[in-house]
Amino acid sequence: MTSPAPKVLILLGSPRRAGNTAALAARIAEGAEEAGAQVESIRLNALKISPCQACDGCRRKEKGCVVDDDMQGLYTKIKEADALVYASPVYWFSMSAQMKAFMDRCYAFGVNKYNDLRGKKTAVAMSFGDRDAFESGCVNALRAFQDSFRYTGTNLVGMVYGSADGAGEIKADTDLMDRAKALGRSLVLTEA
Ligand SMILES: Cc1cc2nc3c(=O)[nH]c(=O)nc-3n(C[C@H](O)[C@H](O)[C@H](O)COP(=O)(O)O)c2cc1C
Repeated sequence: MTSPAPKVLILLGSPRRAGNTAALAARIAEGAEEAGAQVESIRLNALKISPCQACDGCRRKEKGCVVDDDMQGLYTKIKEADALVYASPVYWFSMSAQMKAFMDRCYAFGVNKYNDLRGKKTAVAMSFGDRDAFESGCVNALRAFQDSFRYTGTNLVGMVYGSADGAGEIKADTDLMDRAKALGRSLVLTEA
């Protein structure tokens, strides 16, 4: 019997449909699909994801977060995924607000001591308008992702990030695009 294709869920944190992080994420998807994965991409900007209310309702109710919005469907998709890709532009020296709201709502996984996330493979894709990862503030977001993955026990496979401003300009960085595709492959082929 053949085993089911591993599921990769890509979380797109930019409002731009044809933006730079979307381009990086598309190459990651290409690599992952070539390695046999089933890939789904979600535009966080198209969903209603309210900020976490710190009500701790998720800690009191075993069913998790009590806020009734589009995050409810995402909790299920995340649980079912083998690997998660976080794609975000740098906004004000950190990740986008769309991505941050999503990350905050992942606090609800704490109801089960983050067991629903533990062991999943993760990857990060980011772009920034400034010259390098430090000046742009990209490092702050990368560090926040790294810390959150360590805290929740997920397995960071790799990160791709680069400088570009106009939507889609990042495609000109062919080395980065190649590395994004290679990351997609490793995301599937690396042991959890
Ligand atoms: C609201 C906003 C804030 C931004 N803040 C930064 C920043 O702090 N540092 C930086 O280097 N670029 C910043 N940028 C530029 C974006 O990071 C850059 O254009 C990026 O490539 C956009 O990615 P996207 O096409 O996936 O949206 C900002 C852009 C916007 C719209």
